[in-house]
Amino acid sequence: EQRKSELKTKIKALLKEQNAVMVAHYYTDPEIQALAEETGGCVADSLEMARFGRDADEQKLIVAGVKFMGETAKILSPEKTVFMPTLEATCSLDLGCPVDEFSAFCDAHPDHTVVVYANTSAAVKARADWVVTSSIALEIVEHLDEQGKPIIWGPDRHLGSYIAKQTGADMLMWQGECIVHDEFSAQKLQDMKAIYPDAAVLVHPESPASVVEMADAVGSTSQLIKASQEMSNDTFIVATDKGIFYKMQQLTPGKTFIEAPTGGNGATCKSCAHCPWMAMNGLEAIYNSLTQGTDEHEIFVDDALREKALIPLDRMLDFSA
Ligand code: 13P
Ligand code: SF4
Repeated sequence: EQRKSELKTKIKALLKEQNAVMVAHYYTDPEIQALAEETGGCVADSLEMARFGRDADEQKLIVAGVKFMGETAKILSPEKTVFMPTLEATCSLDLGCPVDEFSAFCDAHPDHTVVVYANTSAAVKARADWVVTSSIALEIVEHLDEQGKPIIWGPDRHLGSYIAKQTGADMLMWQGECIVHDEFSAQKLQDMKAIYPDAAVLVHPESPASVVEMADAVGSTSQLIKASQEMSNDTFIVATDKGIFYKMQQLTPGKTFIEAPTGGNGATCKSCAHCPWMAMNGLEAIYNSLTQGTDEHEIFVDDALREKALIPLDRMLDFSA
Protein backbone atom coordinates (compact mmCIF):
# COMPACT_ATOMS: atom_id res chain seq x y z
CA GLU A 1 0.00 0.00 0.00
CA GLN A 2 2.80 2.40 0.86
CA ARG A 3 4.53 1.64 -2.45
CA LYS A 4 1.24 2.27 -4.26
CA SER A 5 0.69 5.62 -2.67
CA GLU A 6 4.32 6.62 -3.38
CA LEU A 7 3.88 5.63 -7.01
CA LYS A 8 0.67 7.63 -7.31
CA THR A 9 2.32 10.74 -5.91
CA LYS A 10 5.25 10.37 -8.29
CA ILE A 11 3.01 9.73 -11.29
CA LYS A 12 0.96 12.84 -10.54
CA ALA A 13 4.09 14.99 -10.36
CA LEU A 14 5.56 13.48 -13.54
CA LEU A 15 2.34 13.98 -15.53
CA LYS A 16 2.45 17.69 -14.63
CA GLU A 17 6.14 18.05 -15.30
CA GLN A 18 5.87 16.41 -18.72
CA ASN A 19 2.60 18.11 -19.75
CA ALA A 20 1.12 14.63 -20.11
CA VAL A 21 -2.41 13.32 -19.62
CA MET A 22 -3.80 9.83 -19.01
CA VAL A 23 -6.40 8.30 -21.32
CA ALA A 24 -7.73 5.13 -19.70
CA HIS A 25 -10.26 2.46 -20.65
CA TYR A 26 -13.06 1.22 -18.37
CA TYR A 27 -11.42 -2.22 -18.27
CA THR A 28 -8.25 -1.05 -16.54
CA ASP A 29 -7.93 -1.63 -12.81
CA PRO A 30 -10.00 0.68 -10.58
CA GLU A 31 -6.91 2.39 -9.17
CA ILE A 32 -5.78 3.28 -12.70
CA GLN A 33 -9.20 4.68 -13.59
CA ALA A 34 -9.24 6.69 -10.36
CA LEU A 35 -5.79 8.07 -11.08
CA ALA A 36 -6.80 9.13 -14.60
CA GLU A 37 -9.80 10.95 -13.13
CA GLU A 38 -7.83 12.63 -10.35
CA THR A 39 -5.25 13.94 -12.79
CA GLY A 40 -7.64 15.48 -15.31
CA GLY A 41 -7.45 12.60 -17.77
CA CYS A 42 -10.30 10.52 -19.07
CA VAL A 43 -11.82 7.12 -18.42
CA ALA A 44 -13.91 6.08 -21.37
CA ASP A 45 -14.91 3.60 -24.05
CA SER A 46 -12.77 3.28 -27.16
CA LEU A 47 -14.64 5.89 -29.19
CA GLU A 48 -14.47 8.51 -26.43
CA MET A 49 -10.80 7.69 -25.75
CA ALA A 50 -10.01 8.43 -29.40
CA ARG A 51 -11.83 11.73 -29.27
CA PHE A 52 -10.37 12.79 -25.92
CA GLY A 53 -6.81 12.03 -27.08
CA ARG A 54 -7.29 13.97 -30.28
CA ASP A 55 -8.76 17.01 -28.52
CA ALA A 56 -6.45 17.10 -25.48
CA ASP A 57 -4.22 20.17 -25.13
CA GLU A 58 -1.40 18.15 -23.60
CA GLN A 59 1.31 17.10 -26.02
CA LYS A 60 1.95 13.74 -24.40
CA LEU A 61 -0.71 11.04 -24.01
CA ILE A 62 -0.34 8.08 -21.67
CA VAL A 63 -2.81 5.57 -23.08
CA ALA A 64 -3.76 2.98 -20.45
CA GLY A 65 -5.48 0.31 -22.49
CA VAL A 66 -4.38 -1.97 -25.30
CA LYS A 67 -2.19 -1.31 -28.30
CA PHE A 68 -4.86 -0.48 -30.85
CA MET A 69 -5.98 2.36 -28.57
CA GLY A 70 -2.47 3.83 -28.53
CA GLU A 71 -2.20 3.46 -32.29
CA THR A 72 -5.55 5.14 -32.83
CA ALA A 73 -4.41 8.05 -30.66
CA LYS A 74 -1.21 8.39 -32.69
CA ILE A 75 -3.04 8.19 -36.03
CA LEU A 76 -5.36 10.98 -34.93
CA SER A 77 -2.62 13.13 -33.38
CA PRO A 78 0.72 12.52 -35.12
CA GLU A 79 2.16 15.67 -33.56
CA LYS A 80 1.60 14.28 -30.06
CA THR A 81 3.82 11.82 -28.25
CA VAL A 82 1.87 8.68 -27.38
CA PHE A 83 3.22 6.43 -24.64
CA MET A 84 1.74 3.23 -23.26
CA PRO A 85 2.46 1.53 -19.92
CA THR A 86 3.47 -1.52 -21.97
CA LEU A 87 3.67 -2.20 -25.68
CA GLU A 88 2.86 -5.86 -24.97
CA ALA A 89 -0.81 -5.17 -24.25
CA THR A 90 -2.52 -6.45 -27.35
CA CYS A 91 -6.02 -7.82 -28.09
CA SER A 92 -7.10 -11.22 -29.39
CA LEU A 93 -9.13 -9.53 -32.14
CA ASP A 94 -6.08 -7.65 -33.39
CA LEU A 95 -3.94 -10.82 -33.15
CA GLY A 96 -6.53 -12.83 -35.04
CA CYS A 97 -6.66 -10.46 -38.00
CA PRO A 98 -3.27 -10.34 -39.75
CA VAL A 99 -3.23 -7.69 -42.46
CA ASP A 100 -2.09 -9.91 -45.35
CA GLU A 101 -4.87 -12.43 -44.88
CA PHE A 102 -7.45 -9.77 -44.25
CA SER A 103 -6.41 -7.85 -47.38
CA ALA A 104 -6.67 -11.01 -49.47
CA PHE A 105 -10.19 -11.55 -48.09
CA CYS A 106 -11.11 -7.98 -49.08
CA ASP A 107 -9.48 -8.33 -52.51
CA ALA A 108 -11.61 -11.39 -53.19
CA HIS A 109 -14.76 -9.26 -52.73
CA PRO A 110 -13.98 -5.92 -54.36
CA ASP A 111 -17.65 -4.80 -54.52
CA HIS A 112 -17.91 -4.86 -50.70
CA THR A 113 -17.47 -1.92 -48.35
CA VAL A 114 -14.84 -2.83 -45.77
CA VAL A 115 -15.86 -2.07 -42.19
CA VAL A 116 -13.39 -2.89 -39.42
CA TYR A 117 -13.70 -2.75 -35.68
CA ALA A 118 -11.35 -0.36 -33.90
CA ASN A 119 -9.74 -3.41 -32.23
CA THR A 120 -7.34 -3.89 -35.17
CA SER A 121 -3.84 -2.86 -36.21
CA ALA A 122 -3.14 0.40 -38.05
CA ALA A 123 -2.42 -1.69 -41.16
CA VAL A 124 -5.87 -3.32 -41.09
CA LYS A 125 -7.48 0.09 -40.57
CA ALA A 126 -5.53 1.36 -43.57
CA ARG A 127 -7.25 -1.34 -45.70
CA ALA A 128 -10.72 -0.31 -44.53
CA ASP A 129 -13.37 2.08 -45.80
CA TRP A 130 -14.81 2.56 -42.32
CA VAL A 131 -13.61 2.02 -38.76
CA VAL A 132 -16.26 1.52 -36.08
CA THR A 133 -16.35 0.95 -32.34
CA SER A 134 -19.11 -0.95 -30.60
CA SER A 135 -20.89 2.27 -29.63
CA ILE A 136 -21.38 3.43 -33.22
CA ALA A 137 -21.23 0.22 -35.28
CA LEU A 138 -24.99 -0.27 -35.49
CA GLU A 139 -25.67 3.24 -36.83
CA ILE A 140 -22.83 3.11 -39.36
CA VAL A 141 -23.86 -0.29 -40.73
CA GLU A 142 -27.48 0.89 -40.92
CA HIS A 143 -26.31 3.89 -42.91
CA LEU A 144 -24.29 1.69 -45.32
CA ASP A 145 -27.13 -0.79 -45.63
CA GLU A 146 -29.52 2.02 -46.65
CA GLN A 147 -27.17 2.68 -49.55
CA GLY A 148 -27.56 -0.99 -50.50
CA LYS A 149 -23.89 -1.82 -50.07
CA PRO A 150 -22.73 -5.33 -49.13
CA ILE A 151 -20.23 -5.25 -46.28
CA ILE A 152 -17.06 -7.06 -45.29
CA TRP A 153 -16.96 -7.05 -41.53
CA GLY A 154 -13.93 -7.80 -39.39
CA PRO A 155 -12.74 -9.10 -37.10
CA ASP A 156 -15.29 -9.80 -34.32
CA ARG A 157 -17.79 -12.40 -35.51
CA HIS A 158 -20.07 -12.05 -32.47
CA LEU A 159 -20.39 -8.28 -32.78
CA GLY A 160 -20.79 -8.74 -36.55
CA SER A 161 -23.61 -11.28 -36.14
CA TYR A 162 -25.38 -9.04 -33.66
CA ILE A 163 -25.23 -6.10 -36.05
CA ALA A 164 -26.27 -8.20 -39.06
CA LYS A 165 -29.26 -9.44 -37.09
CA GLN A 166 -30.29 -5.96 -35.95
CA THR A 167 -29.88 -4.27 -39.33
CA GLY A 168 -30.51 -7.09 -41.82
CA ALA A 169 -27.36 -5.90 -43.65
CA ASP A 170 -25.53 -8.20 -46.05
CA MET A 171 -22.28 -8.87 -44.13
CA LEU A 172 -19.40 -11.21 -44.93
CA MET A 173 -17.69 -12.02 -41.62
CA TRP A 174 -14.09 -12.43 -40.61
CA GLN A 175 -14.00 -15.12 -37.92
CA GLY A 176 -12.33 -13.41 -34.97
CA GLU A 177 -13.35 -13.19 -31.35
CA CYS A 178 -12.50 -11.61 -28.02
CA ILE A 179 -11.16 -14.25 -25.65
CA VAL A 180 -12.78 -12.52 -22.68
CA HIS A 181 -16.34 -12.12 -23.98
CA ASP A 182 -16.36 -15.41 -25.85
CA GLU A 183 -16.25 -17.19 -22.50
CA PHE A 184 -19.58 -15.98 -21.15
CA SER A 185 -21.93 -18.94 -20.88
CA ALA A 186 -25.65 -18.69 -21.72
CA GLN A 187 -26.48 -21.83 -19.82
CA LYS A 188 -24.79 -20.69 -16.64
CA LEU A 189 -26.37 -17.26 -17.08
CA GLN A 190 -29.76 -18.95 -17.15
CA ASP A 191 -28.97 -20.57 -13.78
CA MET A 192 -27.80 -17.25 -12.37
CA LYS A 193 -30.95 -15.48 -13.52
CA ALA A 194 -32.97 -18.03 -11.57
CA ILE A 195 -31.06 -17.03 -8.43
CA TYR A 196 -31.49 -13.28 -9.10
CA PRO A 197 -34.88 -13.04 -10.85
CA ASP A 198 -35.05 -9.24 -10.50
CA ALA A 199 -31.62 -8.57 -11.94
CA ALA A 200 -31.24 -6.91 -15.34
CA VAL A 201 -28.70 -8.46 -17.70
CA LEU A 202 -26.22 -6.11 -19.37
CA VAL A 203 -24.19 -7.57 -22.25
CA HIS A 204 -21.34 -6.29 -24.42
CA PRO A 205 -21.99 -7.40 -28.02
CA GLU A 206 -18.60 -9.14 -28.28
CA SER A 207 -20.34 -11.94 -26.33
CA PRO A 208 -21.79 -15.00 -28.07
CA ALA A 209 -25.27 -14.64 -29.63
CA SER A 210 -26.79 -17.00 -27.04
CA VAL A 211 -25.72 -14.57 -24.27
CA VAL A 212 -26.72 -11.43 -26.21
CA GLU A 213 -30.21 -12.92 -26.65
CA MET A 214 -30.67 -12.96 -22.88
CA ALA A 215 -29.75 -9.30 -22.45
CA ASP A 216 -31.96 -6.50 -21.18
CA ALA A 217 -29.44 -4.03 -22.61
CA VAL A 218 -26.70 -4.56 -25.20
CA GLY A 219 -24.02 -1.98 -25.93
CA SER A 220 -20.52 -0.60 -25.68
CA THR A 221 -18.96 -0.07 -22.28
CA SER A 222 -20.30 3.51 -22.07
CA GLN A 223 -23.74 2.39 -23.16
CA LEU A 224 -23.82 -0.34 -20.51
CA ILE A 225 -22.79 2.15 -17.84
CA LYS A 226 -25.59 4.46 -18.97
CA ALA A 227 -28.06 1.56 -18.87
CA SER A 228 -27.06 0.77 -15.29
CA GLN A 229 -27.91 4.37 -14.35
CA GLU A 230 -31.16 4.57 -16.27
CA MET A 231 -32.70 1.20 -15.48
CA SER A 232 -34.61 1.01 -12.23
CA ASN A 233 -33.31 -2.46 -11.22
CA ASP A 234 -31.21 -2.70 -8.06
CA THR A 235 -29.17 -5.65 -9.29
CA PHE A 236 -27.36 -6.19 -12.57
CA ILE A 237 -25.65 -9.22 -14.06
CA VAL A 238 -22.91 -7.85 -16.29
CA ALA A 239 -21.35 -9.71 -19.22
CA THR A 240 -18.20 -7.72 -19.91
CA ASP A 241 -14.81 -7.10 -18.27
CA LYS A 242 -15.25 -6.53 -14.55
CA GLY A 243 -13.12 -3.36 -14.67
CA ILE A 244 -16.37 -1.66 -15.67
CA PHE A 245 -17.77 -2.15 -12.14
CA TYR A 246 -15.64 0.72 -10.88
CA LYS A 247 -17.59 3.29 -12.92
CA MET A 248 -20.97 1.57 -12.46
CA GLN A 249 -20.56 1.56 -8.68
CA GLN A 250 -19.29 5.13 -8.64
CA LEU A 251 -22.32 6.39 -10.57
CA THR A 252 -24.97 4.28 -8.88
CA PRO A 253 -23.99 3.70 -5.27
CA GLY A 254 -26.32 1.22 -3.64
CA LYS A 255 -26.86 -0.91 -6.73
CA THR A 256 -25.38 -4.39 -6.92
CA PHE A 257 -23.31 -5.63 -9.86
CA ILE A 258 -22.55 -9.30 -10.43
CA GLU A 259 -20.14 -10.80 -12.94
CA ALA A 260 -21.88 -12.92 -15.56
CA PRO A 261 -20.66 -16.53 -15.38
CA THR A 262 -17.86 -17.69 -17.67
CA GLY A 263 -16.76 -21.13 -18.77
CA GLY A 264 -18.84 -21.41 -21.91
CA ASN A 265 -18.52 -24.54 -24.07
CA GLY A 266 -17.80 -26.54 -20.93
CA ALA A 267 -14.27 -25.12 -20.86
CA THR A 268 -12.56 -23.90 -17.74
CA CYS A 269 -12.41 -20.15 -17.64
CA LYS A 270 -9.10 -18.74 -18.81
CA SER A 271 -9.61 -15.02 -18.55
CA CYS A 272 -12.56 -14.91 -16.13
CA ALA A 273 -14.17 -11.67 -17.19
CA HIS A 274 -10.93 -9.75 -17.07
CA CYS A 275 -8.81 -8.98 -20.11
CA PRO A 276 -5.23 -10.14 -19.46
CA TRP A 277 -3.87 -7.33 -21.64
CA MET A 278 -5.86 -4.58 -19.95
CA ALA A 279 -4.55 -5.95 -16.64
CA MET A 280 -0.98 -5.12 -17.70
CA ASN A 281 -1.68 -1.43 -17.07
CA GLY A 282 -0.56 -1.40 -13.44
CA LEU A 283 0.77 1.55 -11.43
CA GLU A 284 4.34 0.37 -11.82
CA ALA A 285 3.95 0.21 -15.61
CA ILE A 286 2.46 3.69 -15.72
CA TYR A 287 5.31 5.02 -13.63
CA ASN A 288 7.76 3.32 -16.01
CA SER A 289 6.10 4.94 -19.01
CA LEU A 290 6.90 8.32 -17.46
CA THR A 291 10.49 7.47 -16.56
CA GLN A 292 11.72 5.07 -19.23
CA GLY A 293 12.39 5.66 -22.90
CA THR A 294 10.87 5.43 -26.26
CA ASP A 295 11.86 1.82 -27.00
CA GLU A 296 9.78 0.38 -24.21
CA HIS A 297 6.78 2.68 -24.36
CA GLU A 298 6.32 4.92 -27.38
CA ILE A 299 3.81 4.21 -30.16
CA PHE A 300 4.95 4.89 -33.71
CA VAL A 301 2.87 4.43 -36.84
CA ASP A 302 4.45 4.48 -40.27
CA ASP A 303 3.52 7.74 -42.06
CA ALA A 304 2.07 6.23 -45.22
CA LEU A 305 0.00 3.79 -43.19
CA ARG A 306 -1.10 6.53 -40.85
CA GLU A 307 -2.44 8.69 -43.65
CA LYS A 308 -4.48 5.81 -45.02
CA ALA A 309 -5.80 4.69 -41.63
CA LEU A 310 -6.80 8.26 -40.79
CA ILE A 311 -9.44 8.32 -43.57
CA PRO A 312 -11.78 5.60 -42.17
CA LEU A 313 -11.13 6.76 -38.60
CA ASP A 314 -12.09 10.33 -39.44
CA ARG A 315 -15.17 9.03 -41.22
CA MET A 316 -16.26 7.38 -37.99
CA LEU A 317 -15.54 10.44 -35.86
CA ASP A 318 -17.36 12.76 -38.29
CA PHE A 319 -20.32 10.37 -38.45
CA SER A 320 -20.60 10.22 -34.66
CA ALA A 321 -19.99 13.95 -34.05
P1 13P B 1 -15.76 -0.41 -25.99
O1 13P B 1 -15.57 0.35 -27.24
O2 13P B 1 -17.17 -0.80 -25.74
O3 13P B 1 -15.16 0.33 -24.84
O4 13P B 1 -15.01 -1.81 -26.13
C1 13P B 1 -13.64 -1.96 -26.28
C2 13P B 1 -13.21 -3.34 -26.05
O5 13P B 1 -12.07 -3.69 -26.19
C3 13P B 1 -14.22 -4.29 -25.66
O6 13P B 1 -13.65 -5.50 -25.33
FE1 SF4 C 1 -9.52 -7.20 -26.93
FE2 SF4 C 1 -11.33 -8.54 -25.61
FE3 SF4 C 1 -9.33 -7.42 -24.30
FE4 SF4 C 1 -11.28 -5.90 -25.39
S1 SF4 C 1 -11.48 -7.35 -23.72
S2 SF4 C 1 -9.07 -5.55 -25.48
S3 SF4 C 1 -11.71 -7.07 -27.23
S4 SF4 C 1 -9.17 -9.09 -25.79
